[in-house]
Amino acid sequence: MSATFKTLDELDLTGKRVLLRADLNVPVADGKVTDATRIERLIPTIREIVRHDGKVILLSHFGRPKGKVDPEFSLEIVASTVADLTGHPVGFIPTDWADVSGAIRAIEDAPAGSVFILENTRFHPGEEANDVELARIMASLGDVYVNDAFSAAHRAHASTEALARLLPAAAGFAMQAELEALEAGLGKPKKPVVAIVGGAKVSSKIDLLENLVTKVDGLVIGGGMANTFLHAQGFGVGKSLAEKDLAETALRIMDKAIDSGCAIILPIDAVVSWHFKANSPTRLYSAEAIDPEGMILDIGPSSIERIKGAIDDAHTVVWNGPMGAFEMTPFDAGTVEIARHVAHRTKAGLLTSVAGGGDTVSALAHAGVKDDFTYVSTAGGAFLEWMEGKPLPGVNALKK
Ligand code: 3PG
Ligand code: MG
Repeated sequence: MSATFKTLDELDLTGKRVLLRADLNVPVADGKVTDATRIERLIPTIREIVRHDGKVILLSHFGRPKGKVDPEFSLEIVASTVADLTGHPVGFIPTDWADVSGAIRAIEDAPAGSVFILENTRFHPGEEANDVELARIMASLGDVYVNDAFSAAHRAHASTEALARLLPAAAGFAMQAELEALEAGLGKPKKPVVAIVGGAKVSSKIDLLENLVTKVDGLVIGGGMANTFLHAQGFGVGKSLAEKDLAETALRIMDKAIDSGCAIILPIDAVVSWHFKANSPTRLYSAEAIDPEGMILDIGPSSIERIKGAIDDAHTVVWNGPMGAFEMTPFDAGTVEIARHVAHRTKAGLLTSVAGGGDTVSALAHAGVKDDFTYVSTAGGAFLEWMEGKPLPGVNALKK
């Protein structure tokens, strides 16, 4: 594939100070990184820079310290995990981003192939303001810029946007893999394409649904948001989570789907309970006859069969959001069964499958199939904005 963005192979890395924008915004508990997936995905790029005797200078935000130096959000906490996973010693460089002269010296004095992490870019208010002055300060620390932080690419911040315009810039291997996977998912997918969208609320995914119906052949709607659609069609949803004020929005999306030739697949049966609690008693209802006192907490077996049928007809599946309250048994059953079916077809070479978004990744991990999809994005907001068809500033800044 000839990329529209510059890749690592197109940059001269030899002996260079390489500013590598990473997303080190990883979950931490009790001082330890609890999910290092985002760090693991940086390893090929780090190795490539080291192989060329470059110096790796990792640049990232961490949490939301709102433009102030706040030790609670120091990136020092991830340094040992980066060192363990890359097998390189990692130097942590504290800075308030106003004066980087100490950082410049530390990088200058280090031997070729050294790896550094700079302090949280969000310790300076210029980061979120996409301030060119701050970007110039950042640029003084490197010779070239590489971005491997797709999950931060929806932010037009100094380290993701302005900086990319000041130095020779390229996508790292992780960013490249992500962009190629997304291109295969919705950009130039092998048709038919089925999108599976779940999660609690329609309100957070209106733009996403409106964009998808114009792009895909089938749209499976599950999770709490399906209840809003069932309600809009005149079905009772009992005490289920539903945004009844969004009935018109739901109908508009369904109309747009008809105009675009996209089949919407809604649940036809549901697992209902009377308590929002793990292992509470359940009963199966047809979607037309939900108990007025009950709550829909998962899709039922007939819905699962229908969705599997749609997947069997597809060459590409894009997935965001669980089908039910998957954090609690037995309401994980629908999500798990659909995830395993997608994984199975993918492994058999019959399907390209791309999934992303925080809950989705945990759901796939829970189903034991996280490594069996074609690509699983570690991005949350950026993945959603991509599914919405919005331009991503951090990606656009890398365009040729
Ligand atoms: C993420 O974790 O989704 C990214 O790192 C972006 O973080 P943000 O939502 O704080 O900008
Ligand atoms: Mg976020």
